[in-house]
Amino acid sequence: MTASLQHIAIIMDGNGRWAKARGLPRTEGHRQGAKTVTQILEAIQKRNIKYVTLYAFSTENWKRPPEEVSTLLNLFRQYLKEDLTQLQKNSVRIHFIGDRSKFPKDIQKEMNKLEYETCSCDKYHLVLALSYSGRDELTRAVTKVALQVKKGLLSPSDISEKTIEKELDTIGIPNPDLMIRTSGEQRISNFLLWQLAYSEMYFSSVYWPDFTEEELDKAIEAYKSRDRRFGGIK
Ligand code: FPP
Repeated sequence: MTASLQHIAIIMDGNGRWAKARGLPRTEGHRQGAKTVTQILEAIQKRNIKYVTLYAFSTENWKRPPEEVSTLLNLFRQYLKEDLTQLQKNSVRIHFIGDRSKFPKDIQKEMNKLEYETCSCDKYHLVLALSYSGRDELTRAVTKVALQVKKGLLSPSDISEKTIEKELDTIGIPNPDLMIRTSGEQRISNFLLWQLAYSEMYFSSVYWPDFTEEELDKAIEAYKSRDRRFGGIK
């Protein structure tokens, strides 16, 4: 039986190497990568896959040279204000995961606005991981649980997986079925550490700016041939 596929999570890697291979500045790789985001999102929705999560900026990415960070922030700004506003018309609910307090105020405002304006859409969901890392998310979640214990609202013996899940940025979003990483690297790199526990992994050697609908289909085909047991037996 073919496993159902309702959520794809993607680590969009290789923008810098794509640019370097062409003698271009790294920032050009990010610009091209932003165009790929639009194309792949459309392709995923065309295939009736309801949820997509994109790792667009990690908590560690703040350490990159200021001009690269600034280019990325401008790309996000433009994407939120233009492309995502357009997406709303297609019934896409937009979610942001990560520590948004690190972003300039105008970007935070745009994030809050998009989440609010799309909160009743349910046909498709786009989750953008921005200033995100799995360890940071878990640390923030555990802190909130500890505060509930301190206030006497929760007993340590009542803490379950559900207690933690309720405090994660991804509350209400199903776990990814398939995680794709581009550029040949085979690591999780602090992405969705809790949520990927039983996800299938697919590693593509293609750099993100070169990732196409055909490459996406290769990942989906590979996923369909996997035997998901979630720790059980069949
Ligand atoms: C990883 O490649 C990619 C990033 C850190 C940024 C991802 C951003 C985009 C795809 C463009 C903008 C996104 C949106 C949502 C508009 P890398 O720079 O680490 O590449 P390298 O490993 O080859 O150096």
